[in-house]
Amino acid sequence: MRPIRIATAALTAAALSLPLVVTSATAAPPADQQAAPHSNAKFDRLREAAPKGFYVGTAVAGGGHHLEQDYPDPFTHDRKYRKILGQQFNSVSPENQMKWEFIHPERDTYNFGAADAIVEFAERHRQVVRGHTLLWHSQNPEWLEQGDFSKEELREILREHITTVVGRYAGKIQQWDVANEIFDDQGNLRTRDNIWIRELGPEIIADAFRWAHEADPEARLFFNDYNVESDNAKSDAYYELSQELLAQGVPVHGFSVQAHLSMRYGFPGDLQQNLQRFDDLGLETAVTELDIRMDLPESGVPTAEQQKQQADWYQRVLEACLAVEECNSFTIWGFTDKYSWVPVFFQGEGSATVMTEDFERKPAFYALRSSLKDAKWEQWKESWKRR
Ligand code: G3I
Repeated sequence: MRPIRIATAALTAAALSLPLVVTSATAAPPADQQAAPHSNAKFDRLREAAPKGFYVGTAVAGGGHHLEQDYPDPFTHDRKYRKILGQQFNSVSPENQMKWEFIHPERDTYNFGAADAIVEFAERHRQVVRGHTLLWHSQNPEWLEQGDFSKEELREILREHITTVVGRYAGKIQQWDVANEIFDDQGNLRTRDNIWIRELGPEIIADAFRWAHEADPEARLFFNDYNVESDNAKSDAYYELSQELLAQGVPVHGFSVQAHLSMRYGFPGDLQQNLQRFDDLGLETAVTELDIRMDLPESGVPTAEQQKQQADWYQRVLEACLAVEECNSFTIWGFTDKYSWVPVFFQGEGSATVMTEDFERKPAFYALRSSLKDAKWEQWKESWKRR
């Protein structure tokens, strides 16, 4: 986003004196948050509070861990969920519905139903879509992982999948996570557990980008990973690979950080600088799967202090993105604790999203909205000056 300095002091001091969100959803922000500068209901929505050209997104719940829960498919059956999904966000990411095991369950069978429904919903609600994901080591179907394919066959299977899936949604996907989580935390390529890299070598990564670009020349093509929010061995690996592929003219357009953060560990304080160095390479950047989990007290209800820190972290991630020219996509990995993957994966941790299980807005929701409003105001002043 066109760099805009954000006056946050106000929020931190005043807004976070919000009452603890336990029951009522009416924890309205302090007066000065309501007044400045746009104070009608429309701007109470994240997507309307956002500056022009900035996308605020969420994962669309379905598949994956949801299949093991005792509730029906959220996107299909939860009307309140769908209402908020359409009202608050102008970007959506299928949480599992575009992954190999869901969209290509048998070698000669594609299952586009769930993904089609999300893309159609997005069109009806004037939302962009982030495609997730094409080349990954996880959630690949058994027929693929256990299949006894020659290298030529495997290569053709990947080319055909990318051409079919990206081609089907050509012109309807803003950004694709082409290569997801291809490095381990030490910055080594996943040459063991990633079937494509293991069987076909690192060159297959460039081919995946080329095939995706051929299938949809408009879509922006990204590397996506977790634990790359800071300048470290893993993000260095992406930096060097990006330089290499850009020098070869491979259509790599972006680098994105998932940002699955835990308040057990420190905040990635150099996130903005890290995104900036990729921006300086001429790449777009994005935040794609933000959630901020915490160790829950025995009661299961976060303390006021925990909510305050969580809101502050959500805001700092957003502002790091807003401060980087070509970071125009900011996605949270689900907006309600009701469907969050966190409690399923991280024993004792939870409350990672911006709304409670009853869709009550937490301080984190207001923190995001406030920073978006401030950025929009600055953008407006900038455009006014240029008149
Ligand atoms: O496929 C197995 C099935 O064989 C087994 O019987 C069943 C019972 O344990 O588990 C199934 O695996 C599930 C998997 O989705 C596949 O559908 C896991 O339990 C389930 O937890 C998993 O959840 C998804 C996870 O990706 C898979 O890695 C989550 O819904 C989804 O939110 C999560 O999203 C990922 C992003 O795609 C990439 N970045 C990290 C993010 C969080 O892990």
